[in-house]
Amino acid sequence: MSSKASVPVLIVGGGPTALATALTLAKNGISIRIIQKDGCFHIGQRGAGIQPRTLEYYNLLGVLPDIWERGIPPMPISVYKPGMIEPIKTFHMVKIEEDTPAIPHNNIRMLGQATQESIMREQLEKLGVHVELNTELRTFEQREDGVVARVVKKSGDEEIPEMIQCDWLIGADGAKGVVRKQLGVTFLGETHSDHLIFGEIESKGLSPGSVHRWGNPGGTLVVLRPTETERIFSFVVSGDFDHDKLMSDRDSLVQYIRDQTGRYDFELGNIVFISDWRPNIRMVDKFSVGRVFLAGDAAHVHSPTGGQGLNTSIQDGVNLGWKLALVIRNHASPSLLDTYTTERLPVVAHMLKVSTNLYQKTRASTVTGEGAEEAWQRGGPLKQLGINYRWSPIVRDERTPYIHPADTQPIDVYGAEGGGASVLRAGDRAPDAPGLVDNRQPDAEPTKLFRIFGVTHHTVLIFSRDAAQIRAVLDAVKEYPPNTMKTVTIYPQGTSTIPTTLNADYIVTDRDGHAYNGYNMTDSATTTIVVVRPDGVVGGIVFGVEGLQKFFQAYH
Ligand SMILES: Cc1cc2nc3c(=O)[nH]c(=O)nc-3n(C[C@H](O)[C@H](O)[C@H](O)COP(=O)(O)OP(=O)(O)OC[C@H]3O[C@@H](n4cnc5c(N)ncnc54)[C@H](O)[C@@H]3O)c2cc1C
Ligand SMILES: *[C@@H]1O[C@H](CO)[C@@H](O)[C@H](O)[C@H]1NC(C)=O
Ligand SMILES: *[C@@H]1O[C@H](CO)[C@@H](O)[C@H](O)[C@H]1NC(C)=O
Repeated sequence: MSSKASVPVLIVGGGPTALATALTLAKNGISIRIIQKDGCFHIGQRGAGIQPRTLEYYNLLGVLPDIWERGIPPMPISVYKPGMIEPIKTFHMVKIEEDTPAIPHNNIRMLGQATQESIMREQLEKLGVHVELNTELRTFEQREDGVVARVVKKSGDEEIPEMIQCDWLIGADGAKGVVRKQLGVTFLGETHSDHLIFGEIESKGLSPGSVHRWGNPGGTLVVLRPTETERIFSFVVSGDFDHDKLMSDRDSLVQYIRDQTGRYDFELGNIVFISDWRPNIRMVDKFSVGRVFLAGDAAHVHSPTGGQGLNTSIQDGVNLGWKLALVIRNHASPSLLDTYTTERLPVVAHMLKVSTNLYQKTRASTVTGEGAEEAWQRGGPLKQLGINYRWSPIVRDERTPYIHPADTQPIDVYGAEGGGASVLRAGDRAPDAPGLVDNRQPDAEPTKLFRIFGVTHHTVLIFSRDAAQIRAVLDAVKEYPPNTMKTVTIYPQGTSTIPTTLNADYIVTDRDGHAYNGYNMTDSATTTIVVVRPDGVVGGIVFGVEGLQKFFQAYH
């Protein structure tokens, strides 16, 4: 006998993609269930580096303070010759850069994936959502009006079947997941023959201030990286060895590390986590079929070089999450969901190219790190701050209209080429701007845009000093569901008399000019409205109420 239940959204998977999607939906008040077939939560560092753009997504999701506090800064790599205590060279893979007013988190932060997941789970629990362990999706059927999922809950030796009726199903079930397979979506790409073993091991005696590397990625390689937990090092080994033996026997693994490093001056203790990995570079040709969506590794797998995996997956989750929340609450038409594929597919395709290219360069690099250093010195685009959706059908730019290239292919999705003019455009990442003085409480601590943006709402920024025009825009925004919008009236630096009676959520003065600069506004008379989406992307740059209405019409 199988029991029956129904829920608007069923999320399959308990990894970072599933959790980011779940958090976006739950914060928007959508009821969900989230199921994971494994009996316990993941352990291990896995993708530990959090790219600057991902940190911004964590900010939108409200988990950044915890992630930041528990993480550590990235460290340089020291390259050694076997047996030598002193490194031949030490370098930073990606240059450490200063934070700026527009980019408050300009560098990677390191924190084990398992901890990132537990922080997201804690937030979900506060919203009453618990990941259901030991709960596996077996099959599903799609109908016109919904999806029926057949699930099995394990309890000891017993298997309890359950039928879950949902309106939408999200497959965030990883690279080997059943959702993609059952949808029959193609997963094109290649698998490489290299084979790595990685995990975590207790170790003492190596400096915690840098990543230690012997050999090179194309051949024999040993890497020992300090983690945020004292004495736990993350390791990667590759080379010509008996994989099964190293995977199953700690002493053989330790001996391999000793042989390749020629070092006996540090301790190697218990193995905390071990896994193996083969470079696999594949992606789907669409991210959804009907009411079923794919996100994260279920939709794309790639080489860890460049570290875009988790980073990309979280962006998938938030992109899908906010759109689905609007559709479920009847604030947008289901056609909005098509833009999930339209926006994400070119970004993911480009990311696969970037990480594959890096992977090949890293493999071809020499033992001393020549080449790898060069390959990695491309931190810029890898931070993903330039990723944009300028070509998207739901963004609207009246200031710098997007002209489709002749072949209508999106160009420069990573913003690596600067995208022509250096003006902020619709589809770009919305920059931060600190130093915003609240005109109703001028003595309070100034606020910043990154404290106002969030996954639950669109933020309407009004750059103007014309009270009548500001009022017209605020009135127009009132036509939209109130809990989906935040309004911010931003007066230029040095404005003297400012009405405090406007019906805006925030009335601020751009004390230091960061907002006007970052958004390329002059303080002249033209009222300009910038709509920032729940995923921190500039959706619209428009000049008046009519432009604002046209922007939102694209959601219907
Ligand atoms: C063992 C391992 C090591 C990795 N190491 C690295 C690394 O060193 N560097 C790097 O950059 N990236 C690494 N990755 C990739 C990185 O972790 C992924 O990009 C990231 O985890 C993607 O998250 P995800 O949520 O899409 O998928 P996953 O984290 O794989 O999560 C999938 C989830 O789906 C669940 N699931 C699967 N099938 C079902 C089902 N039928 N029913 C219910 N639940 C199901 C699983 O229990 C799991 O919770 C690694 C991945 C794995 C699995
Ligand atoms: C995210 O990016 C960082 C930095 O490049 C990388 O170290 C990390 O492995 C990435 N995460 C994943 C899961 O790819
Ligand atoms: C737009 O703003 C950015 C960020 O402040 C700046 O670098 C760029 O020069 C500006 N471009 C123009 C044309 O004003």
